[in-house]
Amino acid sequence: MTKIALFEDKRIILGVCGSIAVYKAVDLASKLRQAGAQLDIIMTEAAQRFVSPLSFQAVSGGPVYSDMWRAEASGGLPSHIAHIALAEAADLLVIAPATANTLAKLAGGFADDLLSVTALAANCKLLIAPAMDGGMLEHPATQANLETLRRRGAHIIEPESGRLASGLIGSGRLPETPTLLGHIRRVMGLDGELSGHKLVVTAGGTREALDPVRYLSNRSSGKQGFAIAQAAIDAGAEVVLISAADLPPPVGASLARVDSAESMRAAVLEHISQSSALIMAAAVADYRPRDVAKQKIKKSDASLSLPLERSPDILMVVKAQREQTGYPMIAVGFAAESENLVENASGKLRKKGLDLLVANDISASDAGFAVDTNRVVVLDMDGGLHRIDLTSKAAIGAYIIERVGGLLA
Ligand code: CTP
Repeated sequence: MTKIALFEDKRIILGVCGSIAVYKAVDLASKLRQAGAQLDIIMTEAAQRFVSPLSFQAVSGGPVYSDMWRAEASGGLPSHIAHIALAEAADLLVIAPATANTLAKLAGGFADDLLSVTALAANCKLLIAPAMDGGMLEHPATQANLETLRRRGAHIIEPESGRLASGLIGSGRLPETPTLLGHIRRVMGLDGELSGHKLVVTAGGTREALDPVRYLSNRSSGKQGFAIAQAAIDAGAEVVLISAADLPPPVGASLARVDSAESMRAAVLEHISQSSALIMAAAVADYRPRDVAKQKIKKSDASLSLPLERSPDILMVVKAQREQTGYPMIAVGFAAESENLVENASGKLRKKGLDLLVANDISASDAGFAVDTNRVVVLDMDGGLHRIDLTSKAAIGAYIIERVGGLLA
């Protein structure tokens, strides 16, 4: 787990209740710490029946609080009164898993243990991940409590469906760590610098059908586009991710799955109206089979020629639309080059009317397609050139979003 810039200097309270799903919260605490968050853990009495505080202490590297009657706070907090100190210091209060009992306490404003009294004292955002047996979740009392909390501005993570501890199949499972982390990022980012902006991001290599079972494509994995979408969510943007890749989307992105250049063109045109920025990270096929066979092509001769035709250049279509409507306000393109990187890239920047162009050298094996790292040159319309040496696609995504933020400001 690498550091997440969003968590730098941020203090998160993880409230843990007595549910069988507590073991997942141990993993969440570990990942949050690895990602760079400073953690304060509050366990309810019931939570300690499932997992020892020592487990949380070991993975979080910080104190575990549980006793409302112990006055002194530690962990570098200013006040000696634990719930006040914790509440004032927190940037986010996450309760995962949240039991029906704790939901009822929060909805009713009860304050009879350290978690509920801290929740009452805290002014930060509240993110709740309920986990319980299906019948308890569906009970009108639980649903009414969730509704009350939602109305008050709490963010609720929908429990997942599947096998419950009781052996029943139903809704009530605590999502796995990556999903919980995704929700934490989304909520922490809400007031970020791109808050109120809609960003459209494309990702992956398009697939151009030859017949019902075959297609022409390229080696793009979609990882860079997905990392950009995640960085945009971290910055508070509303994100539409138009993807030809089969990766799990970041929590909070609205996903439009496409396959061909034509379907990507249609999706881009549908979503760019009123958008602040379009970031075309997708590797779009330049050519597609002229004729798509209705039946599977059978082998016959020793060789086979397939006539290809040009597919739409999406950024050129967007350029024309932008001149008429003003949207997207900012357009960012990518250039995949195997020679004359900067020269070819600056030609594309001008031709496609882009504000920024991210050029990568696809001939290097540690950068570009499929791997988790990249090395790019970012060009802008004023002739500026910024080289980023080998780093994670997440870091490059964050840089691109920062530049887009700068242009929009
Ligand atoms: N692009 C596009 N539509 C296409 C091809 C590319 O919108 N049919 C976009 C890509 O998403 C990328 C940028 O244009 O943001 C440059 O893509 P690239 O493949 O590097 O360049 P091409 O314009 O296709 O030119 P060439 O392949 O000849 O280098």
